[in-house]
Amino acid sequence: MTIALRRAEETDAAQLLAWRNDPETRANSRRQHILTWAELIEAPPGTRRETYIGDIDGRPVGTVRLDYSDDLCELSWTVAPASRGQSIGRALVEAAIATATTKRLTAEIKPGNRASRRIAEALGFKQMGKERGLEIWQLERP
Ligand SMILES: CC(C)(COP(=O)(O)OP(=O)(O)OC[C@H]1O[C@@H](n2cnc3c(N)ncnc32)[C@H](O)[C@@H]1OP(=O)(O)O)[C@@H](O)C(=O)NCCC(=O)NCCS
Repeated sequence: MTIALRRAEETDAAQLLAWRNDPETRANSRRQHILTWAELIEAPPGTRRETYIGDIDGRPVGTVRLDYSDDLCELSWTVAPASRGQSIGRALVEAAIATATTKRLTAEIKPGNRASRRIAEALGFKQMGKERGLEIWQLERP
């Protein structure tokens, strides 16, 4: 499966908000309220955010966010609700890892999010502990 990542633009706003505000995505996210576009796109203080859409044959199937701070990149990911359970999540995160420029990558995952835990584990992330009830997964590259 080939996923092409492209930078999200304002024309993708409705699509990204629909994916992000879907109940399952909210339940698995740090912020569980319904987000506005400004909240979705704004980087946390001290970080630089890159938001990508993943396309398969020109069809948008999910999104990944790369938040850079110093030598660290935090990944977060969402597959379009209609495209879940088809190995797209794993391919999406793999593409995000290939795009990220830091050696150290992290992801915060809710303990009950079995699909995301599987994806992180399969792609070489190690669980480093827990913060605020979320598991911290880390990938260290040579
Ligand atoms: C989590 C999410 C990204 C997974 O994407 P996906 O495309 O459905 O997952 P995949 O099909 O690539 O499956 C990845 C692995 O999880 C397993 N899996 C998929 N859905 C599962 C489920 N509901 N429960 C348990 N395991 C599941 C798959 O069998 C696969 O395991 P394998 O590699 O051993 O075969 C997607 O469900 C999603 O966007 N959820 C809402 C947002 C979210 O949770 N984001 C992540 C926050 S950390």
